[in-house]
Amino acid sequence: MNNFDGKKILITGTAGFIGSYLAKRVCLENSGAKVIGFDSINDYYDVKLKEHRLSWFENIPNFEFVKGNLADKKIINQIFEKYHPDIVVNLAAQAGVRYSIENPDAYIEANLIGFYNILEACRHYPVEHLVYASSSSVYGGNKKVPFSTDDKVDNPVSLYAATKKSNELLAHAYSKLYNIPSTGLRFFTVYGPAGRPDMAYFGFTNKLINGEKIQIYNFGNCRRDFTYVDDIVEGIIRVMAKAPEKKDGEDGLPLPPYKVYNIGNSNPENLLDFVKILQEELVRAEVLPQDYDFESHKELVPMQPGDVPVTYADTTDLYNDFGFKPTTSLRTGLRNFAEWYKQFYGEIK
Ligand SMILES: NC(=O)c1ccc[n+]([C@@H]2O[C@H](COP(=O)([O-])OP(=O)(O)OC[C@H]3O[C@@H](n4cnc5c(N)ncnc54)[C@H](O)[C@@H]3O)[C@@H](O)[C@H]2O)c1
Repeated sequence: MNNFDGKKILITGTAGFIGSYLAKRVCLENSGAKVIGFDSINDYYDVKLKEHRLSWFENIPNFEFVKGNLADKKIINQIFEKYHPDIVVNLAAQAGVRYSIENPDAYIEANLIGFYNILEACRHYPVEHLVYASSSSVYGGNKKVPFSTDDKVDNPVSLYAATKKSNELLAHAYSKLYNIPSTGLRFFTVYGPAGRPDMAYFGFTNKLINGEKIQIYNFGNCRRDFTYVDDIVEGIIRVMAKAPEKKDGEDGLPLPPYKVYNIGNSNPENLLDFVKILQEELVRAEVLPQDYDFESHKELVPMQPGDVPVTYADTTDLYNDFGFKPTTSLRTGLRNFAEWYKQFYGEIK
């Protein structure tokens, strides 16, 4: 449906969870497109998983990988000078809310300096569209649900959230000043096979296998809009193909071709229900035995700094502009994750 043939597409974060899925799909569905993947392959989590994702590209001829740090302006400029990308999708970032308490430097480097370098490169080597990852965390402790892009998001509760909100502000300024079409996407808790080990579904699975206790925050009174990775990728691809229009305002100056959308399941699940489905699927996939004593491996604990009790996406704008909203159920998504986990760690661990 979206034909990117003839386009050069830079996707950063391609050794990462979402970036690897996106790059693979774009390459396979658009043999006439060229995808340049970029990632530092940092060791925030198991590098083997990143190498595994990169192995998907071994026989894909229209993919080229460059290893480097977003904060290294020289290498970013070299890439833009060499390839002149038509579309840029910036997914590389230091992710995770809790780690921003431990290692704030990584967030400033990747999410602020790195994103600034991308913006500057888009300024000097004009692109058709810059798409970048924001996050549901920008909604902070927003009480009003569902979260709408019209809500005020000036109260981040983690450094991670503050950097993502800053990305939106920086993108707005660059869109206005240099007429760069940009779209920010606020993703809501993305999960799936070959996902991120620092996220609950993956971390819980690792702990349960090792016989450790899992900690369920806010005594289980959390609701999360879990979004399956294929839905996120579908949303990104539709957005990539349609840049915000360039228009002039009444003063004759360009209006910023700037948009922000939520991509979330719009169907928040209670954390305890989520854990129950995960348990059932781990048993079904034979990751854990039928008689596993889940009750003695669960601990209900208070809320952690930086966490929020609920995330819930209003996806009306995404649906109105792109005719799409995520639909994968938690049951299907966690089943795919459990089956992948069994196969991957069955063979590799
Ligand atoms: N997964 C989610 O639930 C979620 C939710 C909201 C927003 N996001 C955002 O979506 C994007 C992709 O997330 P993901 O889940 O795939 O995370 P990920 O950690 O799996 O992928 C990010 C990749 O970026 C790379 N990276 C980090 N710093 C870098 C730097 N300075 N230079 C070059 N590469 C660097 C990492 O090596 C990693 O492979 C991120 O921007 C993240 O903040 C993710």
